[in-house]
Parts: sequence; structure tokens; C-alpha cells
Amino acid sequence: MVYKTKNEYETEALGAELASSFSPGTVIAMRGGMGAGKTAFVRGLARGLGETSRVTSPTYTIVNEYDTTPPLFHFDLYRLEGADELFEIGFDDYLSRGGICAVEWSENADGGVSFTHIISIERSGEDENSRIITVSEV
Ligand SMILES: Nc1ncnc2c1ncn2[C@@H]1O[C@H](COP(=O)(O)OP(=O)(O)OP(=O)(O)O)[C@@H](O)[C@H]1O
Ligand SMILES: [Mg+2]
Repeated sequence: MVYKTKNEYETEALGAELASSFSPGTVIAMRGGMGAGKTAFVRGLARGLGETSRVTSPTYTIVNEYDTTPPLFHFDLYRLEGADELFEIGFDDYLSRGGICAVEWSENADGGVSFTHIISIERSGEDENSRIITVSEV
């Protein structure tokens, strides 16, 4: 499915709207360069699953966990230096917990993560704030 958003709030709203379509065990690769809107989308996902607290980027912490139903695990692997480090952060344990994993910068894990979905966010070129968001199953 392909969607278009005109600003950050629409991207967040799309994440919230699609949240109920992901079942426990879903692992989403969030693709798109810096500032594409990956975190904005995941913030929406969290809200759609019922999270009411602030959702921030886990760049320094690598993973943020939300006690939603199902739980949401938001990874940002920007600082990861390879698939080996997935083991160190206990990635397998998160996978086995029946939640939804949304993973930013999975490119840094060298193919170490197997995904069920890819969500890619690209600038549309129309204007600074337009994005094309493509959701696909793997
Ligand atoms: N349509 C849009 N959707 C999402 N964000 C948008 C949009 N238009 C403009 N923005 C802006 O782009 C930025 C997106 O930031 P965000 O942290 O979500 O990106 P990111 O893809 O997670 O980047 P990073 O790779 O650094 O983690 C914000 O500053 C936001 O205001
Ligand atoms: Mg981000």
C-alpha cells in the first residue's frame, strides 16, 4: 500500500491508523534517510496501540519499550556496528515476547534481522514536508 502525507502529524496519524493491522510477532523495517519521518510514524504506532506518554527516539538507548497490547519495541540501530551487537542488546528476547518490533536503521545490522514488513518513507519532491510512505509485507 502506498500513502502520502503532507506533514509530521499526518505521518503520525497514519502510524496510529495502521497500528491495529499489525499482529503480535510483527517485525517492521523502518526505511528512509535521516529526518524522513520514521520516528514520527512509530510515535503514531505507539499511540494507536494505546500509549499515552511521550514517545521519543531511542537513538542513545537503542530500544524503547511500551507496555501496550501487544507491547511495542522501538529500536534505533543507528549506533550499531554490525549484526553481532544484536545479540548484546538481547534482540532475540524481544522477538520472542510476542510484541510488535519497529526497527530504524536495520541496515546497520547487516541482514541480521528478518522482517515481516517494510515501511519506507521517502520525500516526494513536491515540497519539504511531503512524504510517500510504502507499506509492504515481506
Ligand atoms: N510528512 C512528514 N512526515 C514526517 N515528518 C515530517 C514530515 N514533513 C516534515 N517532517 C519533519 O521531518 C522530521 C522527521 O523526523 P523523525 O525523527 O521522525 O525522522 P527519522 O526518520 O526518525 O530520522 P532519524 O533517521 O534521524 O532517526 C521532523 O522534523 C518532522 O517535523
Ligand atoms: Mg528516528
